[in-house]
Amino acid sequence: MRITIETLFPQLIASWAREALIGRAVERGLLEIRANDLRRFAGNRTGRVDDAPYGGGAGMVIRVDVAAQAIDEARSAVPPADEVVLLSPAGEPLAQPLVERFAGYRHLMLLCGRYEGFDARVEQFVDREVSIGDVVLMGGELAALCVAEATARLLPGVLGDAESHRCDSFSSGLLDYPEFTRPPMYRGLEVPEVLRSGDHARVASWRRAQALLRTARRRPDLLAAAPGDDERRVSAALAPDDEEET
Ligand code: ADE
Repeated sequence: MRITIETLFPQLIASWAREALIGRAVERGLLEIRANDLRRFAGNRTGRVDDAPYGGGAGMVIRVDVAAQAIDEARSAVPPADEVVLLSPAGEPLAQPLVERFAGYRHLMLLCGRYEGFDARVEQFVDREVSIGDVVLMGGELAALCVAEATARLLPGVLGDAESHRCDSFSSGLLDYPEFTRPPMYRGLEVPEVLRSGDHARVASWRRAQALLRTARRRPDLLAAAPGDDERRVSAALAPDDEEET
């Protein structure tokens, strides 16, 4: 899969694309990251891509012609961009079903704004606007990396077997169960006995209950979308004397 990221700071993207599991996926040809500099469409020798806002006010606005040319390029690439996504605090909130959709594409283009953002006419050229949450960043780059990383980890071969298994557990729509490692006791905090019992069936059912309990306590909104047979177990998981671990 190719992910093209259009930005004024391509080096910021390039260093992420070299590191850790993403770097390995790129080396192995499972993923191609293209970090392109929007300034190539500046149309002037200074590389200036912004201008003052009509109507006045502080800050500068990135020109629509700069964005439109970058989008045209991605749409006529081989393979063409399946979707062009603008990162913006005004976009739809990022969530797992959306990245699952992106992971099925051959080419995804992510467009990052800076300053006061793009000329609003850019909305007519993109397929979708995505926000990584109700928070304002200084630009779309870190948001684009969130989208790119969440998408990349779903591509076949990018994660090892162990990590893929964890990924399946989140795809169920629940928060993950808590994990522990040695030592068994630290400053009075003990690893739950069931995890040290060697009884795989008990471990599996404890983990499921913990995932439900955590989700019910921390993110009850997620439970509405959880598979039906979980609902009966939620009431059991929420029995008053039950304690969420950690
Ligand atoms: N650019 C600035 N803030 C953003 C956000 N929350 N999501 C996506 N892009 C952004």
